[in-house]
Amino acid sequence: MSKRIAVAVIGAGAIGRTHVDTLARMSGLHLAALVDPAEDGRALAAAAGVPCLPDVAALIDSGLAQAAIVATPNETHLPISEALLRAGIPVLLEKPVAESLESARRLIAVADETGVPLLVGHHRRHNPIIRAAHQAIHAGAIGDLVMATVNSSLAKPPEYFQAPWRRTKGAGGPLLINLVHEIDLLRHFFGEIASVQAVASHHRRGFPVEDTAAVCLQFAGGGLATLSISDAAVGPWAWDLSAGENMARFPAHPVSAHHYAGSRAGLSLPDLVLWQPQGAPDWTRELQPRRLDCIPADPYELQLEHFAGLVRNGGAPLVSARDATANLVVLDAIRSAAETGRAVAVDLSPLACESETGFNIGSGS
Ligand SMILES: NC(=O)c1ccc[n+]([C@@H]2O[C@H](COP(=O)([O-])OP(=O)(O)OC[C@H]3O[C@@H](n4cnc5c(N)ncnc54)[C@H](O)[C@@H]3O)[C@@H](O)[C@H]2O)c1
Repeated sequence: MSKRIAVAVIGAGAIGRTHVDTLARMSGLHLAALVDPAEDGRALAAAAGVPCLPDVAALIDSGLAQAAIVATPNETHLPISEALLRAGIPVLLEKPVAESLESARRLIAVADETGVPLLVGHHRRHNPIIRAAHQAIHAGAIGDLVMATVNSSLAKPPEYFQAPWRRTKGAGGPLLINLVHEIDLLRHFFGEIASVQAVASHHRRGFPVEDTAAVCLQFAGGGLATLSISDAAVGPWAWDLSAGENMARFPAHPVSAHHYAGSRAGLSLPDLVLWQPQGAPDWTRELQPRRLDCIPADPYELQLEHFAGLVRNGGAPLVSARDATANLVVLDAIRSAAETGRAVAVDLSPLACESETGFNIGSGS
């Protein structure tokens, strides 16, 4: 393998462009080709000085790529990733791992069968803020989780919905596109989710997919969480609008979006402030805020560094297909709860086996 890994970006849309920009800043990898049938893709490739291929079969035939980033609409994740893995090309696959549980299970089987690295792009897990919060929570800083509240107000402009997949049931909608990130983080911090309740609405936009949802989660280890998400509601209280992860796309407002209230202390994110009582908890006494240490870094760069390590040396992906599929199981339960108006148990038992990488669903994080 040459010194710098030749990477193809498949899908030159919103997040594909972020990956192209990120690759330009990396020393261990470089952009070798784009794959996108649309005119915009050809223009971006010309600007970057790389070939633009019409489909993944042409990319594989070309031999241009040692690794690939799949940043295409959700329903294409399985066929494109399967073709790449079977050709021996390691894949960084954007979240969600697939548009459905059935596709995700098929992808797990292909990854297990081929043994070619597959990393799912839950990029926030690479963020030093998340690493610091995970460390603090697992060191007992907040005690046991009692309740968590997560806000995600993401008022998207009308142009966003010109891409038909974003308003198509089973392919788009803020549960699959955005809430999957929050589910992934909550599972990462607090372990598996036992049951869910939910209400979803599409009254603001009138698309077949929901635009707004309110969700309640019960963790297997105890503790409750409430999540509010909307792609039509205005407000800065969302991870994307406060964490400063992708300043080229989103401004970073000085607010928090996640609040974890434990038996010992509270923690807010992304500001990473721990709120501790002096002595025993007592709602009449002032809490002391302390910002936890963290050296900021770009999670998309850190994700690509991790991917480069997998391409060169193999090993366990930080987010495997099996791990990411557990997020889809939770999302399916949320959809079912919203449709039936009932609490729905989260059944991870079909995934509860050791993967080749040693990740064991159901064991907590
Ligand atoms: N991790 C993140 O921060 C993040 C952010 C946004 C989107 N995403 C995920 O990335 C994926 C893409 O989202 P987006 O918002 O960039 O979409 P988008 O619609 O902006 O772009 C998708 C691109 O893929 C191209 N495309 C479609 N089918 C293709 C095919 N078969 N082969 C090659 N190219 C094809 C389209 O022409 C388009 O340019 C989704 O899975 C989404 O959930 C992740």
